[in-house]
Amino acid sequence: MSVAKRNTDERKVTTHRLTEMKKRGEKIAMITAYDFSMAKIIDAAGMDVILVGDSASNVMAGNTTTLPITLDQMIYHGKSVMKGVKRALVVVDLPFGTYQGSPKEAVSSAIRVMKETHADCIKMEGGAEIRKAVERIIAAGIPVMGHLGLTPQSINRFGTYTVRAREDSEAGKLIEDAHLLENLGCFAIVLEKIPATLAARVASELTIPMIGIGAGAGVDGQVLVAHDMLGITEGFSPRFLRRYANLKDTITGAVQTYIEDVKRQDFPNEKEQY
Ligand code: KIV
Repeated sequence: MSVAKRNTDERKVTTHRLTEMKKRGEKIAMITAYDFSMAKIIDAAGMDVILVGDSASNVMAGNTTTLPITLDQMIYHGKSVMKGVKRALVVVDLPFGTYQGSPKEAVSSAIRVMKETHADCIKMEGGAEIRKAVERIIAAGIPVMGHLGLTPQSINRFGTYTVRAREDSEAGKLIEDAHLLENLGCFAIVLEKIPATLAARVASELTIPMIGIGAGAGVDGQVLVAHDMLGITEGFSPRFLRRYANLKDTITGAVQTYIEDVKRQDFPNEKEQY
């Protein structure tokens, strides 16, 4: 297996640099992080973009959907991540219920995220239906990443986490929404769980980067939830997920060994005490 060259460019990643990467055909690597320690490791490993995703609702708080997480909780995660990051571009998700109500509410949610976390930009789910909110936020000087296809904040409307935009009408709306978001000034778009041919078409039509999750190889970058690709989460194995580690087993083994060492009075030994 060939080992990819680690990113040695120490300059801070900006939204402008992502567009440059797309232009020269360099793929963008993006992953989620929710806390200081993990963000520090991921950033030092050379990640381009770190997403403080509202998937924190699932993997950090144990909820079954992303809906319950609050703006205060996202700000807490965003602040923690920012303390560990020097180089990666940091994107914070605006959580459900903080931007769909009105453009005014949307801009004040986005301003709170930027002021309190010091993150670089925000991400929002949806197309034409959130047009005014996106416009207001960009007009306030805040860079916006869009999110189309499977949008988990609308799970109760979809009723299922299955692949989106297989039908022509939904694919057509997705293409229109992607163009709309680019025209409004979004700097990139996440395309989640849509057919690879559709994602590749959108990526070739637009000048801003398309970051895929379950959207095939024809896009400009990939994003995964860290807890999924590191093998911490259980019972979630969609086709698009590649597991790069099995940390659940590693952690279980280490914790069990520690328990045994305590029980048989092997820990602490003489060198491990004062
Ligand atoms: O919240 C999240 O983790 C996301 C990714 C799935 C793109 O939005």
